[in-house]
Amino acid sequence: MPLEKLLDELKAQLAHLDAAGTSKGREQVVVAVKPPQRSRGPRFLLDGFADREFIRMNSNSYLGLSLRHELIEAEEQAAQAYGVGPGAVRFISGTYEPHVKLEQALADFHGRPAAMVAGSAYTAVAGVLFSFSTPETVLVSDELNHNCIVNGMKLAPHKARKVYGHLDLRALEQRLEESLGQAEAALVITDGVFSMRGDHAPVDRMAELCRKYDPRFARGCLLVVDDSHGVGGFGTTGRGTEEVTGGRADVLVGTLGKAMGVNGGYIATAAPLIRWLREKNPFYIYSNPIAPGEAAAALAALELIRGGEGVALLSHLRAVTQRFREGLVRLGFETIPGQHPVVPLLVRDTERTAALVAFLRENGVLATGLNYPVVPRGEQLIRFQVSADHTDADIDAVLSVLSRFR
Ligand SMILES: Cc1ncc(COP(=O)(O)O)c(C=O)c1O
Repeated sequence: MPLEKLLDELKAQLAHLDAAGTSKGREQVVVAVKPPQRSRGPRFLLDGFADREFIRMNSNSYLGLSLRHELIEAEEQAAQAYGVGPGAVRFISGTYEPHVKLEQALADFHGRPAAMVAGSAYTAVAGVLFSFSTPETVLVSDELNHNCIVNGMKLAPHKARKVYGHLDLRALEQRLEESLGQAEAALVITDGVFSMRGDHAPVDRMAELCRKYDPRFARGCLLVVDDSHGVGGFGTTGRGTEEVTGGRADVLVGTLGKAMGVNGGYIATAAPLIRWLREKNPFYIYSNPIAPGEAAAALAALELIRGGEGVALLSHLRAVTQRFREGLVRLGFETIPGQHPVVPLLVRDTERTAALVAFLRENGVLATGLNYPVVPRGEQLIRFQVSADHTDADIDAVLSVLSRFR
C-alpha cells in the first residue's frame, strides 16, 4: 500500500532527525499568561510544568503589544461588530472597514502611496515574487534570506535564481553584472533584519546599486525588502531597517505578527503595484484575509507605535537590549554585535546548544536553540529575543542563569 511505504520512509527520516538532535520535537503549550507587573514582565505557564513561571526570551512580540488592553479591546469590539472571521476572500465580500483603515495607516506609516494586508508575511513575500517576476526575470537573493524568500523564488517564474554571500554587496553587484544581456529584469530581494542573527541589510547601499542597474535592464531592477523583524521594533520610531539605514525599498514587506503583536502580513509600495497585486496575486485573491478583529488590533498597535508611547517603548527596548548584550559579553559569551532585540549567543555545537536550552528551561527561561539547517553548520546558536515588556530585573535574572551554565 502506498501509505505504508510513505509511513516507513517518513518514520526513518524522523528517527534520523531525532538521532541527529535537529528535530523540533514536541511543541511547548502555553496554558496561561501572567500579565506584567511593575518590576517584572509577563510570565508564561506551560503544559507539563505545573505552576512554574517562565520568562519568555523567544517571542517576536518585541514591544509586548500582544498583551496590551488597547489591542485586546479593539479586537473585541471589531469581533462584536463584524464577527470573528471574514467569511470570504477580499474581492468577494471579505473586505471590512478595519482592513481598509489599516491599509491606509500602514501606507502612511511607511510613507508609501498604498499598502495591502496579506494573510502573513510569508505569503506576502511569495505573492510579491510570484506577481512581479516573469520568465525573463533574474532573482537575486542574500544567502541567509528567510525561508519564505527561498521558497517564494522557487514558485516565481524566473530566468535564473542567484544567491550572493551574506551582506556581500560586491558579490551582489557581480550577480547583477553577469545577468546583463541574459535577463530582461532583475529583482533583488533581502531580509531587512536577519531573523537568526539580528544583523541587517544595508538597504541604502542596496537601493543605490539597484538604481545604478535599473537603466541597464530593459524592464528595470527592483529592490524588495522583507523587514518582518524590523518594522515596529527597530529604529527610533519603529520604521525598521529603512529608518536605521536611511535607504528605501521599491517594495516593502512587513508583518503584523511580530512587533505589532497581532497576526498577518503586508506590502507597502506604489499604488499601481498594489492594484496589480489585488488583480494578480493568487495568495491574496484565493485565500481569506486576516479577521476584521485582527485588522482592528493591528490598527490599534500602529496608533500606539505612532504616538509618544511608541517612542518610549522603543527607547526602553533599546536599553534592555543593550543591558542584555553587554551582560552576555561580560560573561564571556560570543555574540554578534548589533542593536536589534534579536541577540544571538553563538554556541557552535549542536549538543551544547541543546544542553544550554534545557538548562535555561530548567531555570525558568525560554530561549530557542537553532541548529543546521536553520543556520549554517558551525553557527549553531541560541537566539534570545528581548522585548519592551522585559524589565531590568528580568534581564538580570536571565544573565544570572547564564552565569551558572558550565
Ligand atoms: C524575514 C521573515 N519573513 C517572514 C516571516 C514570516 O512572518 P509571518 O509569520 O507573518 O508569515 C518571518 C518570520 O519568522 C521572517 O523572519
